[in-house]
Amino acid sequence: MKTYRIALIPGDGIGKEVVPAGVKILEAAAKREKTLALSFEPFDWGCEYYLRTGRMMPEDGLERLRPFDAIYLGAIGHPTVPDHISLRELLLKIRFGFDLYVNLRPVEILPGLEPPLRGRSAADINMLFIRENTEGEYCGLGGRFKRGTADEVAIQHSVFTRRGTERIIRYAFEQARRRPRKRLASATKSNAMQYTMVLWDEVLRAVARDYPDISVANYHVDALAARMITHPESLDVVVGSNLFADILTDIGGALQGSLGLAVSANLNPTERLGPPMFEPVHGSAPDIEGRGISNPIAALWSAALMMEHLGEPAVGARIMKALKAVTGEGRVRTPDLGGKNTTEEFAAAVMDKMSD
Ligand code: NAI
Ligand code: MG
Repeated sequence: MKTYRIALIPGDGIGKEVVPAGVKILEAAAKREKTLALSFEPFDWGCEYYLRTGRMMPEDGLERLRPFDAIYLGAIGHPTVPDHISLRELLLKIRFGFDLYVNLRPVEILPGLEPPLRGRSAADINMLFIRENTEGEYCGLGGRFKRGTADEVAIQHSVFTRRGTERIIRYAFEQARRRPRKRLASATKSNAMQYTMVLWDEVLRAVARDYPDISVANYHVDALAARMITHPESLDVVVGSNLFADILTDIGGALQGSLGLAVSANLNPTERLGPPMFEPVHGSAPDIEGRGISNPIAALWSAALMMEHLGEPAVGARIMKALKAVTGEGRVRTPDLGGKNTTEEFAAAVMDKMSD
């Protein structure tokens, strides 16, 4: 019997609604397997914890997370705490601290859901974003000078290392190789950013030599954003820096029809410094929190990705099959997809499909 230990960080706002839904589905999906068990340990870290303790997580937070097999996270952030504190002191600490350099974000249309782009079908939208997750624009170096005066200066550096750039681009090529279309698009801005993005382009060209079977396109990020709308069918795997791919994947969520559908995995495929982390792309959605109407699809899909990455693809597939059966029928939908159902009703429908 194999027991997987999963750290739960529901976090803030709707994170506290979608993570419990995901845990129920995970428990139900795992119960069907005779050879594995899931053990969950919840952590109440987030903005309420911050207001109580002055920290987003305890000082030894990473040490406490390290022994787990995976982290399942909801969303972090609340209007009561500045976003740069909540993001940097918890989510980025985990991503950077465990060197989870790959942020994997699939953009696909589930059965029964229509992409909101006129004249486009599900077949036109099937992208896999590979976001650099540990450096770049999010490195946090910089400062402010002459604060509050008319002469104030703010400097925010970006750090692009050859090693960091190469490993994410190489991972993206490997993913492209596993997909039928074998295409890779890169998000650059080397016309305006003559140091970081020129390095990015050079590394892309160098790594591409090892992958002659992959067709590569290098787009300026603004043009790539437009291309996602005008020619989504031309995009397969897309690799981008921390900031660029963050922005592009919210467009991805919009292409899927709701941010409540966009899913992500934070991984280190080469070295284990800590557990991988699985989370919806969306935030804590304070505009709808507490009403029980958040869409749990991204959280459920993240749970499936987690099981797949833990080496239990059958459990992941069982969750996805039940999820797709519910979206395919189109009867139960949360309001962001034009329905009237609650988070719990949607999760219950997925549970029903799992026991079919
Ligand atoms: P958001 O993703 O929370 O919300 C954007 C819009 O999408 C809102 O109208 C919201 O109602 C809707 N939405 C998002 N997820 C949904 C779901 N599952 N079901 C239905 N509707 C959904 O982004 P926003 O408003 O920019 O940020 C809110 C807070 O979340 C901020 O504190 C921000 O820093 C934080 N945040 C945290 C993230 C994380 O923990 N990974 C990611 C993005 C934002
Ligand atoms: Mg984002």
